[in-house]
Amino acid sequence: MDRIRIQGPCRLSGSVRVSGAKNAVLPEMAAALLVDGTVTLRNVPDVRDVTTMAKVLRHLGLRGLVVEGDVLRAEGGDLGEPQAPYDLVRQMRASILVLGPLLARQGRARVSLPGGCAIGARPIDLHIEALRKMGATIGVEHGYVVASCRRLKGAEFSFEKKTVTGTENLMMAAVLAEGRTVMKNCATEPEVTDLGRFLNACGAGVEGAGTETIVVDGVSRLTGAEHQVIPDRIETGTFLMAAAATGSGITVEGCRPRHLGAVLAKLKECGVALEVGEEEIVVRPDGPLRSVNVITSPYPEFPTDLQAQYMALMTRAEGVSIVTETVFENRFMHVGELRRMGARIVVHGQTAIVAGPSPLSGAPVMASDLRASACLIVAGLAAAGETIIDRAYHIDRGYAQVERKFQELGARMERIRA
Ligand code: EPZ
Repeated sequence: MDRIRIQGPCRLSGSVRVSGAKNAVLPEMAAALLVDGTVTLRNVPDVRDVTTMAKVLRHLGLRGLVVEGDVLRAEGGDLGEPQAPYDLVRQMRASILVLGPLLARQGRARVSLPGGCAIGARPIDLHIEALRKMGATIGVEHGYVVASCRRLKGAEFSFEKKTVTGTENLMMAAVLAEGRTVMKNCATEPEVTDLGRFLNACGAGVEGAGTETIVVDGVSRLTGAEHQVIPDRIETGTFLMAAAATGSGITVEGCRPRHLGAVLAKLKECGVALEVGEEEIVVRPDGPLRSVNVITSPYPEFPTDLQAQYMALMTRAEGVSIVTETVFENRFMHVGELRRMGARIVVHGQTAIVAGPSPLSGAPVMASDLRASACLIVAGLAAAGETIIDRAYHIDRGYAQVERKFQELGARMERIRA
């Protein structure tokens, strides 16, 4: 397994361009199953999850799927057996995003249950419940979701709690269903909005993607389209926090500041000096950081996917900060590793109390999930001495060319190949 070695502390400078959003391109790739015609996605990030999703889609019979640079092309049309096997799905939970499209397109699907992961049980009961309301006969057998329907029917339902992939799965199921579907209490993340935009470019009738109520008028078929994937707001936030944690001034380019409202407000509250443009954000080194509490919540509030990186930042701030995680039940796996680096953090249930500033020292640490890895990079850049992050494959799932981007900002970071 590859490892990442960082020699800290690092002063970063210059500019970095963020890649396309992993959590936008994954549902858009799954949506290609719905389409009769050529699909072209641009600004596709070079991350492992895209490679994994491509494997799943090829297994399902999607033809002509090729990724060249940051452009993905595929020929929607006749598909093979609608089965997504365990050995592929277990590599990436987001594979469950093929369930809605397969049911809508082929009237049946057998998709392995994704299983839990480091940050929590992550059930898909809300996906299943809503698909039943659209007429699917759906059950779980031997670890697989087995679903069938003559043709999905438009229905009205409200999600018991906000679910990003649940909203995306059902939006994709509804675009070829008979009649109108009204979905309430939907996730409003920018990635949901981007998927709705792509589906409509393919001829779907989606209204309200990105709001809590989405109305979909089913159509008989979708044609191919071209689509530019939105920039990755979590990668953007990670670079901003890396700069703030190391007292650096950098420019993050090709980003979408309006997707980071709560994050930029929080960083300014911490005393981080930001200049926000249309598609770039400049961070200026500007005096000591203040400890500020944060509570993660569904969009547009502070995203759970930046909680770990923010905690690393708070170890550098003056005072005590309280980090509360409300979305996932076990998303503090990075705390033990931060403690190994000298952080002073106490966890009580869903709340972590961070005392700062703690002088961090480099140490061998273990990545447990994608965003915990990013947290350890932020901490390693700020720590004095050498940090070795084991299981770097976690970071490769969602951060394209991570060491190249940080090297170009002046970080002493390298990959130790296994
Ligand atoms: C998406 O996961 C993202 N992944 C996650 O990003 C992100 O952390 C999460 O949304 C929350 O923003 C992708 O988009 C591929 P949820 P998802 O369904 O859809 C519970 C990353 O690092 N729930 O919004 O799986 C669930 O357990 C990843 O890029 C149910 O109980 O998350 C969680 O507590 C990590 N039943 C909460 O809802 C369900 O049927 C939110 O989950 C579905 C979800």
